[in-house]
Amino acid sequence: MNEIITVRGGKALRGRISINGSKNSALACISAACLVNDHSTIELKNVPNISDINIMCDIIRDLGKTVEFENGCLKISGEFTNCEVSTTLAGKIRGSMYFLGILLATMGEVHCGFPGGDQIGDRPIDIHLFGLKKLGAECNIINGVVEGKVTDRLEGNKIYLKYPSVGATCNLMIAASRAYGKTVIDNCAKEPEIVDLSNLLIEMGVKVIGAGTDRITITGQEVIHGDICHEIISDRIEAGVLAVATTITGGEVLIDNTLPYHNYPLISLLNEHGGYVEEMDNGILVRSEGIISPVEVEMMPFPGVATDLQAAVTVMATRSTGISTIVDHVFQDRFQYVDELRNMGAEIERRGNTLKVYGGKPLTGTMVFGNDIRAVSALICAGLVADGTTLIEGVTHLRRGYPDLDTKFRQLGADVTIG
Ligand code: UD1
Repeated sequence: MNEIITVRGGKALRGRISINGSKNSALACISAACLVNDHSTIELKNVPNISDINIMCDIIRDLGKTVEFENGCLKISGEFTNCEVSTTLAGKIRGSMYFLGILLATMGEVHCGFPGGDQIGDRPIDIHLFGLKKLGAECNIINGVVEGKVTDRLEGNKIYLKYPSVGATCNLMIAASRAYGKTVIDNCAKEPEIVDLSNLLIEMGVKVIGAGTDRITITGQEVIHGDICHEIISDRIEAGVLAVATTITGGEVLIDNTLPYHNYPLISLLNEHGGYVEEMDNGILVRSEGIISPVEVEMMPFPGVATDLQAAVTVMATRSTGISTIVDHVFQDRFQYVDELRNMGAEIERRGNTLKVYGGKPLTGTMVFGNDIRAVSALICAGLVADGTTLIEGVTHLRRGYPDLDTKFRQLGADVTIG
């Protein structure tokens, strides 16, 4: 039987909460950890226990390496024995895109089903393939499977990305780490997860310069070292959702274990429109009276407001008294949740990648469905401020991205249960 999330609205969030490790950073770092070829073990800490990570581990085990994952600590050792990623597993997570870079760099060959992940519009991999070809690989998509081969070893090159794709930047950083010579990636992504990946690669002995800027230079190494322990950065999206939820419920929460800098664009938005966010050393204190003014916001690559927070920000806009405009420049079709908010009473017009939200309409609890990780967490936020009870389908999506978001909401006094 499908589990349902039940949210009874009307409670302001109060208390203190600590943020988990970042899903997206962990997926990239686990991939990089697969490059180790000095027979040592590599250890990653603060890895979130979510289904996307568990599927990633299953794929790595299928390919021959040993993976242990317990209490947030993930250890990888051994060598790959094959280069074929099952179409079924690849289709379950977006992170499977990284096996293109990993396997071309380590095995010189890859057969990988098309990456899956959230249904949030077109998710082509042309930028990944363009970059891998620049590094000397032959790549084709045949019957939904990416077939890649390199005659000898990948070779460093200059690569200009037509768009600063997060996934393509990570994939090419990983591939370039074992390539011969120097690779320069221009117009690359600048997200904090890229910097985390770069820090790990540096600890593994790869020369990486420029992560967090538009240009990353990588000098590949033939031997990549393990015997290190790297702590994954905390999840800025989980922190962002909790900050929005605190603001719209008129609560007060100390969100620990998150770097304010990772959420500056959101913090600035909250401070301007009804929240008061104070920066702490390793966290943020969010306070609000729950009075929200209309927002004008464009979701952009970092350092813009994250597209992963678009749905939560839309819920916030429904609480304002005026008209808000929300544009997503990253994903063109990440709006499935909009119909669900309309079912709860929100008035929202959509034109392409732009939403106009007419605030001041009360939300009322009903049965809704979230079809991606961020949609489900936003619908929980909507439930927190709705009259009555909201029943949300989509627990599997929630579990793909957040290990314990429902528990966290409960710890902060909200009435959120799963069953
Ligand atoms: C990653 C994150 C996701 C986040 C997104 C943007 C992971 C596992 N997922 O997804 O949570 O929302 O970054 O911050 O890390 N594009 C192309 N061709 C490509 C690649 C991307 O056209 O080859 C387009 C996409 O369709 C999209 C945009 O570029 O419109 C951004 O995609 P990208 O930055 O690559 O996101 P992901 O890495 O898939």
